[in-house]
Amino acid sequence: MTSPNPLRDPQDRRLPRIAGPCGMVLFGVTGDLSRKKIMPAIYDLANRGLLPPGFSLVGFARRDWEDQDFAQIVHDAVEQYARTPFREEVWKQLSEGFRFVPGNFDDDAAFEQLRRTVEELDQLRGTGGNMAFYLAIPPGFFGTVVGQLKEHGLADRTADQWRRVVVEKPFGHDLESARELNDILAGVFPSGSIFRIDHYLGKETVQNILAIRFANNMFEPIWNSHYVDHVQITMAEDIGIGGRAGYYDGIGAARDVIQNHLLQLMALVAMEEPLAFDAESLRMEKQKVLASAQLPPRLDLTTARGQYAAGWAGGEKVIGFLEEEGIKKTSTTETFAAITVHVDTRRWAGVPFYLRTGKRLGRRVTEVAIVFKRAPHLPFSQTATEDLSQNALVIRVQPDEGMTMRFGAKVPGTAMEIRDVNMDFAYGGTFTEASPEAYEKLILDVLLGDPPLFPQHEEVELSWKILDPILDYWAKHGKPDSYESGTWGPESAHKMLAREGRTWRRP
Ligand code: BG6
Repeated sequence: MTSPNPLRDPQDRRLPRIAGPCGMVLFGVTGDLSRKKIMPAIYDLANRGLLPPGFSLVGFARRDWEDQDFAQIVHDAVEQYARTPFREEVWKQLSEGFRFVPGNFDDDAAFEQLRRTVEELDQLRGTGGNMAFYLAIPPGFFGTVVGQLKEHGLADRTADQWRRVVVEKPFGHDLESARELNDILAGVFPSGSIFRIDHYLGKETVQNILAIRFANNMFEPIWNSHYVDHVQITMAEDIGIGGRAGYYDGIGAARDVIQNHLLQLMALVAMEEPLAFDAESLRMEKQKVLASAQLPPRLDLTTARGQYAAGWAGGEKVIGFLEEEGIKKTSTTETFAAITVHVDTRRWAGVPFYLRTGKRLGRRVTEVAIVFKRAPHLPFSQTATEDLSQNALVIRVQPDEGMTMRFGAKVPGTAMEIRDVNMDFAYGGTFTEASPEAYEKLILDVLLGDPPLFPQHEEVELSWKILDPILDYWAKHGKPDSYESGTWGPESAHKMLAREGRTWRRP
């Protein structure tokens, strides 16, 4: 067998993953996401030497700013939120490529100016006409902006150039609106040029799910209904909605997090081995999982939703959701959601996947727990194993990135007593290099045109197909249950699992 030529393999890790000549136009420069995530990630990439020397960033917003005002905004964001230390020489080179175009989204003159700016940057900074248009704006404006990009020739490119569009969730609020949104994007950009950001897919530990499963031989044989009792996927936050009332009210936890992050995590845990680690193969396998997902018949018993009431967070008294600024007193938006999904395949028949997320819970933690069935027979006296619970493999996505295996071991002493012990792998203790922020990884992938970590429209549609019946059911059946801030969600969520003889993990 001939070994593949590494120089022909674009995924060869020895090849530098540095973006070629290019730039980015950022819409929504005044938003939280731009300040806290996108701008710092661009600086961090530059600082790590992963951007081309002439990289250019154009801000577009309805502000009366000059280039230097925009540069100041980026500077402040970098100072406050960048992961890597501030280096004057990196900043200087990067900021020379900053431009600002003031205007409304429906302002033709502004888009003409944007076109000229992009052309100028090509001449001055050698961007090669390669541009990513990052829409960090509410989806309601996507249509207008991509329409303008098309109208003003900004989506056009020659054969040796690329133009890409980057969109942030929510990708619609149900199946129908997701389709409409996709039609808008697909009317201007070919599907290979549309990059949908699900920032969870950029997290190291999420990619590690695939590494653990498919680079090893010891997990896959037990990764199925013969051994697995159930799977719990938790994304818990201790924060409330902060200043995001406008975005969050009416959206809620299920649309905000389950539709995208948690169903993507479920797909990665449940999928079959892809042919290769490329976008097409991954998408195919994830899609099969999402397409085979079924909800149990009784949504009243197998889902739960809640809304946080006043309570405690981080040792401080906090207000309830309905008291938050900008939230209607009658709001029925859920801040906690838990659902049960069955993946109807030979591998997973009979294994429930429990997905839960919530704000103002006990602590911030995201984890995937594969909980195994009990051993079929225990040749010990009952008292020896009364403290033994089910074996579990827990992939900790954040904050203490790593993995824990829980199994039974003998307690030292003369009697046979078996108790749970943990075997732990922590990223921090094993690797010296800190994990890059998800946005660094994803923005670099956009600039490289590397699509495996971006959900395709089909996955978005399938996820809405799973969630829509639950959202419809909830909309018709009263209000979310209340839970005290700082606890682990409403009583109904605990009952939901107790009915099936199980309990939620207390991370
Ligand atoms: C976002 C949600 O996608 O993820 C937010 O819209 C949530 O509501 C955030 O706070 C959490 O991200 P992370 O990376 O801090 O887990």
